Amino acid sequence: MATVPRQHITQRKIAEHVQRLGELYPPIPLDSVDRTIKRPGLVARKFGHVIDYLARVELEVDRNVLELLVLLPDVDEINKTFYADVWQPQEIQHGLILDRLQQDLGRTAAKPHLDVSFKIKILGALAHLKPIQDIAKFMYFLTGASTERQAVLAYNQINRGLQELDETAISETIITPIKQQEPGHFAFYQMSATAMIQDKVLRPWQMFLTRVLREKSYHLVGTNQMKQYKADMGGVMVDLGLDSDLEGYAREVGRVENRLLWAHRQGMEFPPYILKALKESVDLYRERLARGVKFA
Ligand SMILES: [Fe+2]
Ligand SMILES: [Fe+2]
Repeated sequence: MATVPRQHITQRKIAEHVQRLGELYPPIPLDSVDRTIKRPGLVARKFGHVIDYLARVELEVDRNVLELLVLLPDVDEINKTFYADVWQPQEIQHGLILDRLQQDLGRTAAKPHLDVSFKIKILGALAHLKPIQDIAKFMYFLTGASTERQAVLAYNQINRGLQELDETAISETIITPIKQQEPGHFAFYQMSATAMIQDKVLRPWQMFLTRVLREKSYHLVGTNQMKQYKADMGGVMVDLGLDSDLEGYAREVGRVENRLLWAHRQGMEFPPYILKALKESVDLYRERLARGVKFA
């Protein structure tokens, strides 16, 4: 059964985690990358679209920061240090490095989507009320945990594929260093969300509203609730071989929120809306393929 861990996660523990991440993982310098590509044509064919997608999503970190400022008008010191000193500086380098790789493979530069959506602005306007702010904060942590987990899984898969192609420079000087930084982001969101539950920050009506909002607004990393990106994400899953076990993937990606938000639903392995989002993406991609277009 899903349970909240007994070990109490204090704000101090979270602050120490953030500090450690900053010390352990400085942003990856562009010139630390070995740009050797043995078979660029083959890499582009097998993983070009995946790299395009990852580059765009990483470069969208600047919009994520804006969203955070809209959603959490009273952002506290720990969160501020995390996004300003650790997360944004690391993610933007991931984006720049992947964007250059994409161009080394002869593909066009990423076009990150940098507008904050209307939905976020509405929630942001309401978030000036403390009870809503707490809901927004909890949802922000759940989204962070889910998206960072998706990043970890995607980088693991692409790394395996690049090693099979014997593209050691890309694997060792791009994907491996990026991949090392993602689990720390995941841990930050997981700890922060768990602490809110352990400290009983949310009343039952707030938990209820969070469930409703999650069901209505859940989306996969980088899809920005847009059909074209959802189909692209379906393509990423297919290219990485993640479509063969969507339920297993839903379990991985949804573990944190299944445990924290749906603990009362005994025996449920993942929130159903996660599997629904995965299926929708893969279906949209297959429909597009059937029309003879691989990536828009
Ligand atoms: Fe990243
Ligand atoms: Fe990350």
